[in-house]
Amino acid sequence: TCSVGNSQTVVIGLAADSGCGKSTFMRRLTNVFGGAAEPPKGGNPDSNTLISDTTTVICLDDYHSLDRTGRKEKGVTALDPRANNFDLMYEQVKALKDGIAVDKPIYNHVTGLLDPPELIKPPKILVIEGLHPMYDARVRDLLDFSIYLDISNEVKFAWKIQRDMAERGHSLESIKASIEARKPDFDAYIDPQKQYADAVIEVLPTKLIPDDNEGKILRVKLIMKEGVEFFSPVYLFDEGSSISWIPCGRKLTCSYPGIKFSYIPDSYFGHEVSVLEMDGQFDRLDELIYVESHLSNISTKFYGEVTQQMLKLSDFPGSNNGTGLFQTIVGLKIRDIYEQIISSKTKTPVEATKA
Ligand code: ADP
Ligand code: G6P
Repeated sequence: TCSVGNSQTVVIGLAADSGCGKSTFMRRLTNVFGGAAEPPKGGNPDSNTLISDTTTVICLDDYHSLDRTGRKEKGVTALDPRANNFDLMYEQVKALKDGIAVDKPIYNHVTGLLDPPELIKPPKILVIEGLHPMYDARVRDLLDFSIYLDISNEVKFAWKIQRDMAERGHSLESIKASIEARKPDFDAYIDPQKQYADAVIEVLPTKLIPDDNEGKILRVKLIMKEGVEFFSPVYLFDEGSSISWIPCGRKLTCSYPGIKFSYIPDSYFGHEVSVLEMDGQFDRLDELIYVESHLSNISTKFYGEVTQQMLKLSDFPGSNNGTGLFQTIVGLKIRDIYEQIISSKTKTPVEATKA
């Protein structure tokens, strides 16, 4: 029953709680491929899909099996697997991967209802982003690469306030209450997915300021699994060693509290990983080139590409710290993985179609 076709769709999973920077990350990723991604033309204005020449990003909220009223009646949150249709998610991601277009449902975030479906054609790169890309084993097995954005509670709170208060008019109390209400389901169904991720971006409060509770300065870790096909982890100075680096000096302007990088081999849920960490923020983004020149295996096509990307999108949230830097690097890695998969498939078309 396995259709072969000339399937070339590479599937990437991006998991995170809502309000944790998935859309920002997606905008950085599609920028790496050159084109800005846009909602499907002439379709439902409330579509959650973003399409560019190479990439289609679908939001897994579209696989809610219960709409807002249904969830309320049954007393389940959107995070609960019972509110999501994993059979359909699997069927459709599999079809797209096999080169077959699908009629994907649309979850309307404005009305809280399920709208009539939209046609999704198989893209070169399919990104499935949302709460559960690695929850169902069948869907997980379709992923060529997976990422988990792990935002610590303190930071999540600060970001949620920023968005839901400023942009959506919610009150501080209601934001606090909604985070609390989601917490048990988040811990049960969302957080455990990070053990399956090939790369995790973990966002924590800074350690550079003792007892910092402002949550403005961030310590960000890029946790990269070893031994993943087509993915070679980034390293600092000397692959496999342990390094601590404070680049502030003659080449890099740093004001208080400075910048600190580290690079260490570690273990994460029993997997061997490399961890690159950046604490602090850049004063001058153009000086990032100095840091970039000390990183290896970043999958750039020319010297300075990371810095160029960061400068181009400097108005995006997180551009002056490790969140923007590591999202950009993961974007370049995804491009690299995509190119390697495509060239390996052209070499051995029959072998490559096997799961
Ligand atoms: P999601 O798509 O996961 O819901 P968004 O990308 O829309 O998340 O981000 C939610 C909010 O979090 C944004 O409005 C922004 O205020 C904040 N945010 C996201 N990424 C960052 C970042 N790297 N640094 C600071 N704030 C961020
Ligand atoms: C989407 C988001 C969830 C959010 C939900 C709102 O599914 O991904 O994170 O909780 O919408 O659900 P609600 O039941 O509050 O309408």
